[in-house]
Amino acid sequence: MKNETLSSLPGPIGIFDSGYGGLTILEKIRKELPQYDYIYLGDNARTPYGTRSFDVVYKFTLECVNQLFEMGCQLVVLACNTASAKALRSIQQNDLPQIDPSRRVLGVIRPTVEAVGSMTKTKHIGLLATPGTVQSNSYPLEIAKLHENIIVTSEACPLWVPLIENNEHLSVGADYFIRKNVQQLLEIDSLIDTIMLGCTHYPLVEEKIKALIPAGISIVSQGEIVAKSLVDYLQRHPEMSAKCTQGGSIRYLTTESVEKFASSASIFLKEQIQAEHIDLG
Ligand code: DGL
Repeated sequence: MKNETLSSLPGPIGIFDSGYGGLTILEKIRKELPQYDYIYLGDNARTPYGTRSFDVVYKFTLECVNQLFEMGCQLVVLACNTASAKALRSIQQNDLPQIDPSRRVLGVIRPTVEAVGSMTKTKHIGLLATPGTVQSNSYPLEIAKLHENIIVTSEACPLWVPLIENNEHLSVGADYFIRKNVQQLLEIDSLIDTIMLGCTHYPLVEEKIKALIPAGISIVSQGEIVAKSLVDYLQRHPEMSAKCTQGGSIRYLTTESVEKFASSASIFLKEQIQAEHIDLG
């Protein structure tokens, strides 16, 4: 049954991630669509999601989406591959019809998969992602639906998100794990010419990855792809655009401490921000 307590008035666009990674998507979205209002929600108290089970990722993601709905968002972007892989479909198919069929939740995997097909010449793609995203098999399945004869080789990188969340990603210790995962991926398939960063945290180590791979291999980072896809979506759905307020504002919410969020978020956004604490539920 529809949640009657939710307002039907236009509201900000909600951007959700388990932690800071979604800020890499938010930054590009705001560059393309600066006129809208945004609320960013980072579930930093429970990050990382990438090593958690399907049920837990689904439960946590739904709680965050509901929170954004209660704050007036009519449209929410899951700026997290793990949540997109493990929770998006259930939320779209089972929860939205109950909560409010007119609201929308979008993910980051589909736009990335749409874009990547034209980028590979060898038809061999590598995926670097969290264990959750890799185990879900979402990328190979979505690629097979849209593109013929593309071979996807996946490498789970369980330590990258914790290293980035703890601001240790530029340390010598991080080099070891980044090199190990990138080498393992290329050893499995030497024909890879395109590597997808299937985690919104990974743009922060993109330069390190670039330094480890041969010049002919290109890296696909999701920020711009997702931002352009949202521009396209809002053009094709003027009724959704009309439900998103346009005041150019941004609020940052975190389930962790505001000081911690503000200081780490500045690494992602390269600017000082103010955050608000939120308790879910
Ligand atoms: N940024 C999230 C993603 O894109 C990180 C997931 C996590 O919390 O491990 O998958």
